[in-house]
Amino acid sequence: MGKFEVLDHPLIQHKLTIIRNRDTGTKVFREVVNEISTLMAYEVSRDMPLEDVEVTTPIEKTVKKQLAGKKVAIVPILRAGLGMVDGFLNLIPAAKVGHIGMYRDEESLQPVEYFVKMPADIDQRQIFVVDPMLATGGSAIMAIDALKQRGAHSFKFMCLVAAPEGVKALQKAHPEVDIYTAALDEKLNEDGYIMPGLGDAGDRLFGTK
Ligand code: PRP
Ligand code: URA
Repeated sequence: MGKFEVLDHPLIQHKLTIIRNRDTGTKVFREVVNEISTLMAYEVSRDMPLEDVEVTTPIEKTVKKQLAGKKVAIVPILRAGLGMVDGFLNLIPAAKVGHIGMYRDEESLQPVEYFVKMPADIDQRQIFVVDPMLATGGSAIMAIDALKQRGAHSFKFMCLVAAPEGVKALQKAHPEVDIYTAALDEKLNEDGYIMPGLGDAGDRLFGTK
């Protein structure tokens, strides 16, 4: 079973409370999602492998560390996942970005895929799938299915708010995937929204409601 971690650094908790607040407008919401994503990228990259490299300082030659292992791809689930990309790229600027478009049917709550565009070497990359909300888990599960169909096999999933139902479903469908969230909330309501959550992440990020 992959990891399940709540990244509850005090700065992350503080910033998450700001975006939960219904009075927080689009501009601040977007800025703070970006900041939280950078903090989360710092945490989830802790176990990145290193290798020795020779470096010549102004004083002498020495052997120190540099990142090794697979190259990284960030895959936001559209739309709301887009809000997490720049924060991540602040720390891993050379990462490639794949996009996967998916929306939840409002009646059935089932995800509908409408767009997939991945880097050509996606099968060789460490993939960070990002989406602020893990509610029923349907979107994350279908996104990882779509990536697996394209040969990808190394995943971490990052969200801001998760519902227990979504964590369970994602772990069942893709048990090897590491899941990182800034908060594990109480439950889903009858409309499939996370309680207390932060509302509709896409609408709050893009000002569409
Ligand atoms: C939201 C969110 C996730 C999904 C989570 O997207 O960004 O992708 O719902 O719900 P699930 O875990 O039950 O699948 P939405 O469908 O509202 O699309 P949007 O990002 O385009 O607004
Ligand atoms: N999608 C959202 O944007 N918010 C939720 O609470 C659930 C799904």
